[in-house]
Amino acid sequence: MQTDFLVIGSGIAGLTYALKTAEACPDKIITVLTKTTSDETNTKYAQGGVAGVMNMDKDSFEKHIEDTLIAGDGLCNRHIVEIVVKEGVQRIKEIIEWGAQFDKNNLGDYALGKEGGHSEFRILHHKDVTGKEMERTLLAAIKNKSNIHLINHCFVVDIITQHHLGYLVTKGTPDIECYGVYVLNLENNKIEKILSKITLLATGGNGQAYRTTTNPAIATGDGVAMMYRAKGRIENMEFIQFHPSALYEPGVAGQAFLITEAVRGDGAILRNNKGVAFMENYDARKDLAPRDIVARAIDNEMKVNGTEYVYLDCRDMNIEKFINHFPNIYEKCKSLGIDVSKQMIPVAPAAHYSCGGIKTDEWGRTTINNLYACGECASTGLHGANRLASNSLLEAMVFAHRCYLDGAAKINLIEFNESIPNWNAAGTTEPKEMILITQSLKEIQLLMSDYVGIVRTNVRLQRAMKRLDLLHEETESLYQTTKVSPQLCEVRNLITVGYLIVKGAQLRHESRGLHFNTDYPFKSDRLQNIVL
Ligand code: FAD
Ligand code: SIN
Repeated sequence: MQTDFLVIGSGIAGLTYALKTAEACPDKIITVLTKTTSDETNTKYAQGGVAGVMNMDKDSFEKHIEDTLIAGDGLCNRHIVEIVVKEGVQRIKEIIEWGAQFDKNNLGDYALGKEGGHSEFRILHHKDVTGKEMERTLLAAIKNKSNIHLINHCFVVDIITQHHLGYLVTKGTPDIECYGVYVLNLENNKIEKILSKITLLATGGNGQAYRTTTNPAIATGDGVAMMYRAKGRIENMEFIQFHPSALYEPGVAGQAFLITEAVRGDGAILRNNKGVAFMENYDARKDLAPRDIVARAIDNEMKVNGTEYVYLDCRDMNIEKFINHFPNIYEKCKSLGIDVSKQMIPVAPAAHYSCGGIKTDEWGRTTINNLYACGECASTGLHGANRLASNSLLEAMVFAHRCYLDGAAKINLIEFNESIPNWNAAGTTEPKEMILITQSLKEIQLLMSDYVGIVRTNVRLQRAMKRLDLLHEETESLYQTTKVSPQLCEVRNLITVGYLIVKGAQLRHESRGLHFNTDYPFKSDRLQNIVL
């Protein structure tokens, strides 16, 4: 199969890019691949909303820029922050034109919310299901584009480069080229080759590297792992954001239900098991301090008091307003027997967002030619050491636009590389025991949660690396000898992601933003991005 533009991922990043490219290049084919179904994305689960300076009377670009820089704890790239904040407003207006509905107040103005680290009310939202509304809008819009081909259940295994033509490719090789991808077609279980002129990685996050995460099962860091294998550059992976308030449900494994930070923005308060509102002991901004600070405070309260959760107290909030703004959360709590007007909600931190990822420039270009990345899998320089709430959807739209502009300008200069060989599955057999794969997944999630969580130490990181080394060895030998399956690929990718997070953490000899190592409890004078 050949396609002019290949888009891997159907979240906000991939779909925004596909839509814009399809409009600008009506004579080109844009193929969008997803590994499950088109709406099963991190995007669909976004709750709080999208940050944007929509009310110039009270808010300003400068304030949003400043809030982003403060949250990022010294490591944001100011130029990129300015681009995202300023261009973001235009991108928000576009998605509204495409049909996205954001809540309005009685006066007909957008009802703007507030979240941790924001100095103003600037979060546009659709109730507490903003991502679902944005995903719906984009999926509806691409249906009208005859030059977009959306293919579900196609698991991308690897990026094709000169390596597949028999050349030695290392990190030092100049001009590594992307010619397309090998995909596992889950309809026929065969690995197929897709040649492309321009490829976009929009594969989302990697929360599944941890035992408890707000991310759905698809978030296994495939794009980052593929990029690393292809010898592209990966940056700042140690900055894993833990959301302070995932719903605590004993015995429930996998994806945790999120209680959006916007609930705190509307007045909810965190309390420990003794009923004490503790955030004032940690930061003057209390419950609305940036996420790294709130998650660490909760982690400390849980450790000191020997509990597995703290409480979110919404009892003083106006219940009608609560139900209107957070109907999904209200219903979820009700289904568990929690009446939020009378009872507190048990919450605990959960892995939520990867601030680092595939290193890109201001046009979303990666270090491999004709290969772009945007959305959560990319590291643009916006988030630095900690992402400001609701800046992710914004970043994805801004960089999808920039990737499209750059790609559309050069598509006619690129040819397909017809000499790429087919996938060679010789010597591989059907997997005999799936337990080998499922058990490895559990081991990765446990070791990452236990040793590479909110608080890290040198010894824990060293131990995590040793365990990952062993898992790597076992999984590689399985990969060489068995037929490829999505489960095997995901475990393999998560091991790579785990390695990149641990390696980044080991190389960062300081505590900054989301990375806190008790052996280096200070900030270094030297600002450094860790590139692997
Ligand atoms: P995703 O939306 O995750 O899409 C990834 C796509 O890649 C999927 O289509 C998947 O099938 C595809 N894919 C992945 N690997 C492969 C492969 N190997 N082969 C083929 N396809 C593949 N951010 C905000 O700004 N505001 C919020 O309010 C907010 N709330 C959030 C709440 C929750 C519960 C979560 C989990 C995240 C939230 N975020 C929020 C973060 C934000 O939702 C994500 O960062 C963003 O949606 C990521 O979009 P994306 O397009 O990069 O990736
Ligand atoms: C939330 O709604 O609390 C999540 C917002 C985000 O991750 O940006």
